[in-house]
Formats: sequence, structure tokens, C-alpha cells
Amino acid sequence: MNNQPFIQVSEVTKRYPRAENPAVNGVSLSLHPGETLALLGPNGAGKTTTVKMVAGLVLPTSGTIHVMGHDMVLARAKGVRHIGAVLEGARNLYWRLSALENLRYFGNLRLVPRRELFHRIEELLALFGLEAHKHQEVRQFSRGMQQKLAIAAALLHDPKILLLDEPTLGLDVQAAKQLEATIAQLTQEQEKAILLTSHMMPLAEKLADRIFVIHKGRKVASDATRSLLERYNTHQDIAEIQVAGQMTQVLIAQLQQAFGGITAIPNANTTMLRWPGSEQTQLIQLLQFLDEQDQAILDIGRRQASLEEVFLSLTGMEQPNE
Ligand SMILES: Nc1ncnc2c1ncn2[C@@H]1O[C@H](COP(=O)(O)OP(=O)(O)OP(=O)(O)O)[C@@H](O)[C@H]1O
Ligand SMILES: [Mg+2]
Repeated sequence: MNNQPFIQVSEVTKRYPRAENPAVNGVSLSLHPGETLALLGPNGAGKTTTVKMVAGLVLPTSGTIHVMGHDMVLARAKGVRHIGAVLEGARNLYWRLSALENLRYFGNLRLVPRRELFHRIEELLALFGLEAHKHQEVRQFSRGMQQKLAIAAALLHDPKILLLDEPTLGLDVQAAKQLEATIAQLTQEQEKAILLTSHMMPLAEKLADRIFVIHKGRKVASDATRSLLERYNTHQDIAEIQVAGQMTQVLIAQLQQAFGGITAIPNANTTMLRWPGSEQTQLIQLLQFLDEQDQAILDIGRRQASLEEVFLSLTGMEQPNE
């Protein structure tokens, strides 16, 4: 029983009516006790759809989903009991009720026994740092506080699984950091499994044991967070060198031969060379090479790889022209 995953998604595809392409296409993933998995992908990748299917809110077109061993189509009610979810957009809170009234309401809805509920509410208010605001109406809450309360409400019945869709979306930097810290604390709580989605690498990096990268409904990569980051050099800078004039195809081919991973993007009167993960010494060699080839260097810069570029490298697509 212990080795059984809390969530098992097998070959799941979701086609929305009239949609041209499936929103989720043959995805398989599993989530084990105590594990946090981040579903990472750009807008429209299929993250929310996947989470909604796991939550039993959207039916898969094909494939199966098991939550604590229960088939989410055939035995949805049994699976749902183990899930707490905070989905994108829906805050699941009543604006005119206080924090405490909201938690009581949702606790009753989840059939949490009265005495247990009282303790659970105190515990969660403390965990999320909301004790001082428990009598305040939710409409007066900042977005960060609302989001914390929504997560607290999702945890009232002490579910084994927590689903968080874009938990820090729309929060300012400070509120997002605070929430990250609280989620990190939750992940340390034994045996809870967390499935969260994000289109931001840093959030996934900070909270997730494993990252599942999804793009156009399909798995692009799935690995331990650390291995994924190492593999794709997301921490490394991209060197950008602007050269005067259009480079010949011959010269570009030579460059790519000598300096692996470099791309050349032609512009009207210049050529932009992009070289991810290049070291200082390699860069000097490149500059020497360009000098030998009588290429006039207009500008040299370095910047961090964006998540989009990581996706592009993961999906093996061309860098877009700018
Ligand atoms: N109810 C729906 N009906 C039809 N198509 C939908 C529906 N919900 C989502 N889609 C489509 O399915 C695809 C995946 O959407 P989904 O919301 O799962 O992506 P996402 O990864 O959560 O994106 P975002 O980062 O923007 O939240 C998109 O092309 C979207 O337009
Ligand atoms: Mg979404």
C-alpha cells in the first residue's frame, strides 16, 4: 500500500468539444506520498485541465485517473474525499463572511466533525498567519491573504492531496514569497502530496521535488527538479552578441561547428548571436574568432535564460525571430 501512488494519471487525453487540438494529450504522471510535483508550462499548455481532471471536475476523454486507488470516473466521490483544491480564478470564499465564518462554513460542507473543526481552524489560521484577521471580512483581505485563506479552506478536512493551480498568480513579490514559504512548510508535513501548477520556473524550483513540463498538452520533460535544472542549464546566462551586417550561411555553419549551441538570428542590418551557457573563456574565443573573420561587434550582453527559452530548448523548437 505504501508504494502505491496517491495520484496515478495514465495515458490521459482531454478533448474539449469543438476544440481543434486536445488540451491534454496522452499524459501519464504519478504523485507519491510526501511528494510535491510541479506542472510547468506556458499559457494554454494543459495545466489547469490536468488538475481539474485529477480533481474530478473535468472528465478525461480517454485514459484513467486514480486517486488513492479510486478511479475518478467510476468512484469519483471516494477519490474526491482525499483532495483539497484551490483552482485558478475560483477563490472559493464568501466575500461578506469573515475568515473564521468562511472556514466554519467550508468545514461543515466537508463534514468535518465539530470538535475537530474547531482545532483544525485554529491550527490553519496559525499556520497561515491569519489569526489576527479571523474576524475580518474576506473582501477586506489583500490578494495574498485571500489566497492563503483559500488554501486553508482546502485543507480543513485534512486531505492527503493538495492541488494548487497557479498559487502565486496575481500576488506581489512579497506576498508570493510568503505564500511560497507557507507551501514549503506544508510540503514538509508528512505524507501530504502536492500537485501545483505554474508557468514560473522559480516557484517550481523552490517547491517541487519533481517537475513535469507540459507543452501543447504533451509531456516535454519529467524529472527530479535538480536534474532538470542541471540538464537544461536554466541558471546559466545567455550571451548575446550583435554583429554588424548579415552573416553568410558559410560563416554561420562554421560558428555552429566551433561553438556548440550558438544560434544566429539575422536582422535587417545586423546579426544577433545567442549562446546559452557559454563560459567567459569560451566567449573570449568566440570574440577572437569573430575578429579574425572581420566581423564588427556592435554589442555584447548577457542575460538570464527566460522560461520561454527553456521551453523552446526542451521542445526542440527554433528560437523565434525578434
Ligand atoms: N472549457 C474549455 N473549453 C474549450 N477549450 C478549453 C477549455 N478550457 C481550456 N481549453 C483549452 O485547452 C487548452 C489548455 O488549457 P488549460 O487551461 O488547461 O491550460 P493552462 O496550461 O492552464 O494555461 P494557463 O497558463 O493560461 O492557465 C487551451 O488551448 C485552452 O484554450
Ligand atoms: Mg491554467
